[in-house]
Amino acid sequence: MKMAKNCLKLFINKTNRRSVQIHTPKIAPSLLAADFSRLGEEVKRIVDAGADMLHFDVMDGEFVPNFGISPPFIAAVRQITQLPFDVHIMVTHPLRYIKALATAGADFITFHIESADEPYEVISAIKAHGLKAGLAFSPKTPTTAVTSYLSDIDLVLPMSVEPGFGGQAFQRETLGKIAELQQVIPQLKRPLDISVDGGVTTEVAPLAIHQGVTILVAGTAIFRSQEPEAVIEKLRTGGTEDVV
Ligand code: DX5
Ligand code: ZN
Repeated sequence: MKMAKNCLKLFINKTNRRSVQIHTPKIAPSLLAADFSRLGEEVKRIVDAGADMLHFDVMDGEFVPNFGISPPFIAAVRQITQLPFDVHIMVTHPLRYIKALATAGADFITFHIESADEPYEVISAIKAHGLKAGLAFSPKTPTTAVTSYLSDIDLVLPMSVEPGFGGQAFQRETLGKIAELQQVIPQLKRPLDISVDGGVTTEVAPLAIHQGVTILVAGTAIFRSQEPEAVIEKLRTGGTEDVV
């Protein structure tokens, strides 16, 4: 472990040509990859393994060609844990879902800039329920599409896969977007989490951490592992054995 930490420092020093604040990221396992037939056991297994928050994917079958997790599912998990809930909504009309998700136990609601509702209206509605507001954008959307909203939100999420399905490969172009977002942070008057979601593994985690990410969402890498505690720890510390 001592060796691994030294390697991380070396990696950063060698490649960092600009000022980046490196954080120990919060780890948010994505429940989409859980075995739903054993939901309670799965949640306990991952909470005990050291998750910092839980990530829920809500889909409407329209914004993305898939269905995801519903408010009653989130409410059921709320009975088991008090961890913060990071609810990622891939829906055409985010305004329709906010009340139900707030009631179910969401702490963050992250909607897509590509959705149909007016972004400031959605942000206001999320905040009116006392929740934190997040803004996601898909791989084909440039960072400039979200920059004017950054001073009004709590979390920004550059997607590292096309939204809708777990188990896809991490798109490395996302690392440049994380770097662009990191550069804007000093100009903001409030803290902003930078999250990344899709294809996150112990191999890519150090690269995202190096660019300044503060929340790592991972579904397959954590839930499909027999040793989720080791995976979470490796994601959090940068999985340096895989990098050097
Ligand atoms: C994709 C979802 C992700 C997904 C991540 O649309 O937003 O949260 O569950 O799963 P993995 O880590 O398997 O790519
Ligand atoms: Zn997600």
